[in-house]
Amino acid sequence: MLETATSVPAVRAAVAAAKADGRKVGFVPTMGALHEGHLRLIDHCRDRSGFTVVSIFVNPTQFGPSEDFSRYPRTLDDDLRKCREAGADLVFTPTPAEVYPRGASATTFVEVPGLSQVLEGEIRPTHFRGVTTVVMALFNIVRPDLAVFGQKDYQQQLLIRRMVEDLHVGVEIATAPTVREPDGLAMSSRNRYLDPRQRQGAAVLHRALEAARRLVDGGERDADRVRQILRSTIESEATARLEYAVVADAETLAELGDIAPGRAAVALLAARFGTTRLIDNARLTE
Ligand code: PAJ
Repeated sequence: MLETATSVPAVRAAVAAAKADGRKVGFVPTMGALHEGHLRLIDHCRDRSGFTVVSIFVNPTQFGPSEDFSRYPRTLDDDLRKCREAGADLVFTPTPAEVYPRGASATTFVEVPGLSQVLEGEIRPTHFRGVTTVVMALFNIVRPDLAVFGQKDYQQQLLIRRMVEDLHVGVEIATAPTVREPDGLAMSSRNRYLDPRQRQGAAVLHRALEAARRLVDGGERDADRVRQILRSTIESEATARLEYAVVADAETLAELGDIAPGRAAVALLAARFGTTRLIDNARLTE
C-alpha cells in the first residue's frame, strides 16, 4: 500500500517503522512529471531494498532566474498513481517551506566546487549547488540506506557520489541506465516542450552518441576525432543548436586527449531545440 507524507516528522516515522521491521530503505528523489525513466529507477530501487521512498519536489534553488521553475510540469495526481503502480511504499511531497524552514530558499549550502562548475555548471552556474543542497537535505530527512539516480544526468550522479564520499554521508549510491524512447531520445520531463519537428530532430543526440561509440569500438583513440563526429552529426540536424560535445574522463570530467585503457571515457552532449535544452551522454569505455 502506498503511503504519502508531506511533513518531515511523518516521513521520519514511516522510515523508522520500516527500519524497525528490518527493511533496507531505498530512496528515489525526483521533481515529479514522472515518466518511464523515473519508474525504472523505482524498479531498480525496489530490487535492492525492502522499502522504497520517492520524493516529488520541484526544487526552486536549482533553477536559474531565467529558467523554467514556474512552468516546470506539475502532475501530482498522475505521479501518485504511477508511484502506486510501480510499487513504491512512501511518497514524500513537501512544500518549499517544509524543505527550507527559513523561507523559500536554503541558507546553508553544500557545494562541490570544480565538478559543479564545468559543462552543465558552466551554463547553469548555481544549478548544482541547488541540487547537492536539496539532495543532502532530503537524505537527512529520509535517512535512506540506498539512493538511486539516473545515468541520464551523468554529471549530477557524479557530484552526488563525490558529496557522499567527501562528507561521509553513509548512503549507498546506485546509478541506473538511461531509459529511451524507441528512436533513442532519452526520456525527460522537458521533452513535452518540443514541437513535432524538434521532437523528431532531438533523436540526433542519441545518433551522435552511437556514432561516437562505433568509432571507439572500431579502435579510434583520438578524442578529437570522436568530438568531431559528435559535433558534425548534431550540426547535420537543422532543429539542433549544439551547446557542448565533449569526451571526458568518466570520473573527473576532465577533457581527454586520448582514449586510453585504464581511464574510462564518457561522451556528454547538450543542445537546444528551439528554447528547450536537452542533455545526453554515453560511456565510451569502461
Ligand atoms: P528529475 O529530473 O525529476 O530526475 C529524477 C531522477 O530521474 C534523476 O536521478 C534523473 O537522472 C532520473 N532520470 C530522468 N530521466 C531519466 C531517464 N530517461 N532514464 C533514467 N533516469 C532518468 O534530477 C532531478 O530530478 C533533480 O535534480 C533531483 C535529483 C530530484 C534534485 O532536485
